[in-house]
Amino acid sequence: MAFWKPGTEKPSFVEDEEGGIVLMSNNLSSSSSSSFGYANIEKQRQRLPVYKYRTEILYLVENHATTIIVGETGSGKTTQIPQYLKEAGWAEGGRVIACTQPRRLAVQSVSKRVADEMGVNLGDEVGYTIRFEDHTTSGVTSVKFLTDGVLIREMMEDPLLTKYSVIMVDEAHERSISTDILLGLLKKIQRRRPELRLIISSATIEAKAMFNFFNTSKKRQAPEGSTQGPKLEPAILSVEGRGFSVKIHYVEEPVSDYIRSVVSTILLINEREPPGDVLVFLTGQDDIETAIKLLAEEAHSHQKNSSGLLPLPLYSGLSRAEQELIFTPTPRGKRKVILSTNIAETSLTLEGVVYVIDSGFSKQKFYNPISDIESLVVAPISKASARQRSGRAGRVRPGKCYRLYTEDYFLKQMPGEGIPEMQRSNLVSTVIQLKALGIDNILGFDWPSPPSPQAMIRALEVLYSLQILDDDAKLTSPTGFQVAELPLDPMISKMILASSELGCSDEIITIAAVLSIQSVWVIARGVQKEQDEAKLRFAAAEGDHITFLNVYKGFLESKKSSQWCYKNFLNYQSMKKVVEIRDQLKRIARRLGITLKSCEGDIDAVRKAVTAGFFANACRLEPHSNGVFKTIRGSEEVYIHPSSVLFRVNPKWVVYQSIVSTERQYMRNVVTINPSWLTEAAPHFYQNRQNNMSL
Ligand code: CDP
Ligand code: MG
Repeated sequence: MAFWKPGTEKPSFVEDEEGGIVLMSNNLSSSSSSSFGYANIEKQRQRLPVYKYRTEILYLVENHATTIIVGETGSGKTTQIPQYLKEAGWAEGGRVIACTQPRRLAVQSVSKRVADEMGVNLGDEVGYTIRFEDHTTSGVTSVKFLTDGVLIREMMEDPLLTKYSVIMVDEAHERSISTDILLGLLKKIQRRRPELRLIISSATIEAKAMFNFFNTSKKRQAPEGSTQGPKLEPAILSVEGRGFSVKIHYVEEPVSDYIRSVVSTILLINEREPPGDVLVFLTGQDDIETAIKLLAEEAHSHQKNSSGLLPLPLYSGLSRAEQELIFTPTPRGKRKVILSTNIAETSLTLEGVVYVIDSGFSKQKFYNPISDIESLVVAPISKASARQRSGRAGRVRPGKCYRLYTEDYFLKQMPGEGIPEMQRSNLVSTVIQLKALGIDNILGFDWPSPPSPQAMIRALEVLYSLQILDDDAKLTSPTGFQVAELPLDPMISKMILASSELGCSDEIITIAAVLSIQSVWVIARGVQKEQDEAKLRFAAAEGDHITFLNVYKGFLESKKSSQWCYKNFLNYQSMKKVVEIRDQLKRIARRLGITLKSCEGDIDAVRKAVTAGFFANACRLEPHSNGVFKTIRGSEEVYIHPSSVLFRVNPKWVVYQSIVSTERQYMRNVVTINPSWLTEAAPHFYQNRQNNMSL
């Protein structure tokens, strides 16, 4: 049970930091996204804080190559600015206005909202594109929302992005790896296409850094006497609104189990506080589903007052219907409890939230170039994130934020800002993308924050071993170019290419589809035994990849039945997604000249193909150990994840797909291999490791 004390921190989102820009959330509540007429929509649009800046924004965009816009979440940046641009004629003559987001779910939800506001069907004038999903109509769509990753891919076809008149890079403060790559590339494009306008928008004040990055006015003088063309010096605009205060509460003692604390705090709010929705920040789908189950159990077993609580999960990969629930108005007498990942920090605006519970954690990627292990870790958030999270409570009226950490911790230990993803990632994909765009000197690339040379060298090494790069660090033909074309993790792409030669592309494409989603299993708590039994029905001694083939086969045989999924503890939405992604991959494979061929049960062929892609992730069981594996590459200690069918089986040699770190480093999606396949698949890579590999 958490003990609460009121904090002394002032509502953080009215603080004035270095940039001298004062940000506040707006005090105007607009009602729900559904059930409104045209006049009503117009009124709602005019009530948003950005509306007051409409003329100024259009003036700045007209006159500056780059405009940086900073404004609190919910002020209308994402939904309104693209519409203003369209109204002002930026989409005339077949040109397109683009707005990028780091998150797929945000792309979907925001484009839907804008289509509604404009009274058009999503996919016509307003459309969206995310990986594996294109809802645009060529020649018709003039306002397009897309992930930054998809826009980078578009450059492979059209390096200067000629169809776009304005590109708005939204949520730039998140500093996702794709956003950073995109910013670097757009800066290059601008030099070749002075008529292109950029808008960089962000919820926090990193305006200075962005300004410096885009400020090329000193280096490049506009041609003498020319009065044409936009100013090279970026403009900065800060959108201000009036914020409601948010009272911050801290726990008195550190909490040992933040999921339990979340649950007791929800019940406490429901017991003591007046109506208003609750927004909870957790780390991922697993956390969120655990908390929802626990909430139901607690309420039931302790007869706590949970009446009226409407728990709703929010994470990427939710179905359309689940997303809709989040945005529909709370029924009278009910209290929505939205349990979210950090997607609700700034990417999405949720109406009606008055209480925020901040676990203090999020799932973050970390990369260690020495061990070459990239893992997902539940790690403490930064002060900047904590402030964004608490700000979400003050949109409709004064709110409260419950922080599940002590005030002392917040003040003295919490880091000020997060580290850009670029500096904590494996760079294999980044290198391929830049190489495919003809950028050879990757270290010399103009990065918003440069990655470490060590990480870069590691990536080049792996790519060379995968035969994606040649001796001159150029993409190989055809392998390198084919891998670059596939919108997948390069290891998965390489696996697909290898399967073509090994005659098991049909099986491998199924595996690739499963590896591209989070998990096919339902996250269950308290029914572990039943779930394990269900898994056994599909389990293959060779490991998870082969198990996935059995799952997929079963799903097809059940005629894609949701009942069947339910019975087998499989996530129906995920399975539908697998079928969809598989269809897409089939099409892409055909384009690359790979025809689907089944190996008719030759499991070795399948495992060899997996090894061809994932050899860098090979591990060997330590003799006489209790399930301790060592990576071949860096001799790191790793374990098989409990969700794997090989958990406790502990075969001698395996390759894994990814690592999750908790108190240990766990391998997810593991398959057994024969060590001789490693030297076959990547002779260069394993040449010097012969000693290490002998048994
Ligand atoms: O981008 P920013 O955070 O500045 O705001 P926005 O996403 O453009 O949201 C502006 C307003 O649109 C919010 O106040 C929401 O009320 C509304 N909105 C909505 O109702 N449903 C959505 N899916 C997105 C936005
Ligand atoms: Mg936004």
